[in-house]
Amino acid sequence: MDQAANLRRLVLENNAVRKCKTIAITSGKGGVGKSTFSVSLAIALAQNGASVTLLDADLGLANVNVILGIIPKFNLYHVIKGKKSLKEIIIDVPEGIKIIAGASGFHQLANLEDKQLAKFIETIGEIDTDDYMIIDTGAGVSQNVLSFVIAADEVLVVTTPEPTAITDAYGIIKSIASHTSDKNIKLVVNRVQSVSEGQRVAQRVINIAGQFLNIKVENLGFIFDDISVQKSIRNQKPFMVSYPKTKASVCVKLIADRICNRDVEAERGTGLVSFFRNMLRSSKDAQSVAEAVAEAPSA
Ligand SMILES: Nc1ncnc2c1ncn2[C@@H]1O[C@H](COP(=O)(O)OP(=O)(O)O)[C@@H](O)[C@H]1O
Ligand SMILES: [Mg+2]
Repeated sequence: MDQAANLRRLVLENNAVRKCKTIAITSGKGGVGKSTFSVSLAIALAQNGASVTLLDADLGLANVNVILGIIPKFNLYHVIKGKKSLKEIIIDVPEGIKIIAGASGFHQLANLEDKQLAKFIETIGEIDTDDYMIIDTGAGVSQNVLSFVIAADEVLVVTTPEPTAITDAYGIIKSIASHTSDKNIKLVVNRVQSVSEGQRVAQRVINIAGQFLNIKVENLGFIFDDISVQKSIRNQKPFMVSYPKTKASVCVKLIADRICNRDVEAERGTGLVSFFRNMLRSSKDAQSVAEAVAEAPSA
């Protein structure tokens, strides 16, 4: 750990009301690199001294475990059903982060009885002392993805320079904005060929969002198109660890530093209990679920 990382760690530790910051990673188009980025960002934050849990919430394709070469036996579904505790399903991986397999547990949340739901909310509070929870969501504007995005403290939209990915990024930003006005939306441009391409694409999305939607989108950075990324996926060993000096790793580290520095200075998270409450509120059975949640113990 370098000196700056040590300093950040100290500030984080001294923060009396430390609550987990939830960051949802999403995109309009699939296959733009959400899971790859989620894993590498989580590792980069951990390398900065932060405690990080990565929630694999892509219900369609659970990629996080494949990228890391792990096979989760249990997932959130088992916790929701009361068969396992949260601690029993969390996987510590050698890369220094914790993984929670979301699998198909989430849409079940809305169907839970009040007592089970309250218990789940209480359980999730147990890991609320972590610095970050990174949530790898699916692509597109499904209710499922949106409820994660709306509940999170901040959302990172991933795109590539491809025109179709840019159009879809604009689409997802539009639907996030139509559901919530105070969302902190940040953009990451993946697979760029040059620095100028990264900046050009980001500026384009930011301009369109500002001009037509009156939404402020922040440019968080870009990641080079890098053959090491594909190699690392094939070897099931994240490039942040197997190729720490490769272009993609350097880019992700810069993004992680940006997030850490900013959080030390100003923006703290609102915590996991609040995250799951928000998520449930925005889910389909909002009314009955919200009542159950209101009775759950507060953070
Ligand atoms: N920076 C990059 N450089 C090269 N290839 C990349 C990069 N990011 C992602 N990829 C490739 O794109 C594929 C899809 O990425 P993935 O993270 O699974 O996308 P998503 O989660 O958005 O569906 C990866 O398997 C990898 O081959
Ligand atoms: Mg994915």
